[in-house]
Amino acid sequence: MSSNNPNGIQSILVTGGAGYVGSVLVPELLKLGYRVKVVDLFWYGREQFGDCNRHPQLELVELDLRDSLRLKQELKAVDAVIHLACISNDPSFELDLTLGKSINYDAFAGLLQGAVDQGVRRFIYASSSSIYGVKEEPNVREDAEPKPLTDYSRYKLDCERDLLAHANVNGMERIIVRPSTVCGYAPRLRLDLTVNILTIHALVNHKIRIFGGKQLRPNLHIKDMARAYQAFLEAPGAKVDCEAFNVGFQNRSVEDIAKLVRETLADPSIELEYTPSDDNRSYHVNSDKVKRVLGFETRYTIEDAIKNIADAYRRDLIKDPFTNPIYSNIKRMQQLRVK
Ligand SMILES: NC(=O)c1ccc[n+]([C@@H]2O[C@H](COP(=O)([O-])OP(=O)(O)OC[C@H]3O[C@@H](n4cnc5c(N)ncnc54)[C@H](O)[C@@H]3O)[C@@H](O)[C@H]2O)c1
Repeated sequence: MSSNNPNGIQSILVTGGAGYVGSVLVPELLKLGYRVKVVDLFWYGREQFGDCNRHPQLELVELDLRDSLRLKQELKAVDAVIHLACISNDPSFELDLTLGKSINYDAFAGLLQGAVDQGVRRFIYASSSSIYGVKEEPNVREDAEPKPLTDYSRYKLDCERDLLAHANVNGMERIIVRPSTVCGYAPRLRLDLTVNILTIHALVNHKIRIFGGKQLRPNLHIKDMARAYQAFLEAPGAKVDCEAFNVGFQNRSVEDIAKLVRETLADPSIELEYTPSDDNRSYHVNSDKVKRVLGFETRYTIEDAIKNIADAYRRDLIKDPFTNPIYSNIKRMQQLRVK
């Protein structure tokens, strides 16, 4: 089976494709007819693709991104790269700054050069809306001045800059995606993300502890995240090359999300407990550009994400949510003693 991609893209290498986003994205790409190669260290296992795990167009390659020589070999005959692999939140990055930098930043140069050398036609980089830091303005657009507050966000921004500054890219189109915090159920579930963690606390403990609460956070359903990557693969090069796109829609305060969880689960007994927080990252991300340029609109809501998680929990698909390290990046990395 082949894809109907208007740019002729057939073969995609997804770094970190066995993570939270990848576990939803990869099966979608396979359904669309793409050949998909997942390059990952499989910290969260390798069985997360369900029926697609034995798909004839899926190849799983256990490889550390930092091994640039082997990575270059794997990039042969690849049309597009979606670069997701990284240590993907502040606390797990801060576990070991040298390790974090080696994966999130140092390895990026080898990946990029390997892609250029092998004639990859499109490179899609998963950055983050956290590069904006705290912003007062009501609408943070792509041209807002980035002010990353943490090393994780700083290196995301550094990779963006290196991607755009890279000389002699051999015609490779480069796209920067700045997603909001993703939410909703996935076969490789993360319970260290705002909507997901608030929902699981409400379901298990009937109590939600809110740290701070007034900070605005943009959110994005995981199925829309996957749809957005599909749109970036299909978009005409002239519209997206060397462009950055915010992808995030429902900007809500943490307190509002907690209330929404209580309403959506229709359980007024869920208690909200407030704790002061010094994490005051707050930003209202504007995603008009991706709509204007690509016609991309979201289809799913935070309420959908809450319902998906509740449904999975009731079907016993989320086992030991608070003690199983598989749901928490920092706990899993500590368990594996990642080096
Ligand atoms: N999930 C979100 O809310 C969110 C929001 C904004 C941006 N992003 C970005 O999207 C991307 C995917 O996020 P996610 O939530 O799926 O992350 P995740 O932590 O679930 O997955 C990351 C994957 O990368 C792999 N990996 C880590 N280091 C590697 C290495 N050295 N070599 C090979 N594989 C390696 C891990 O095994 C894991 O499967 C990340 O770049 C993240 O920064 C995510």
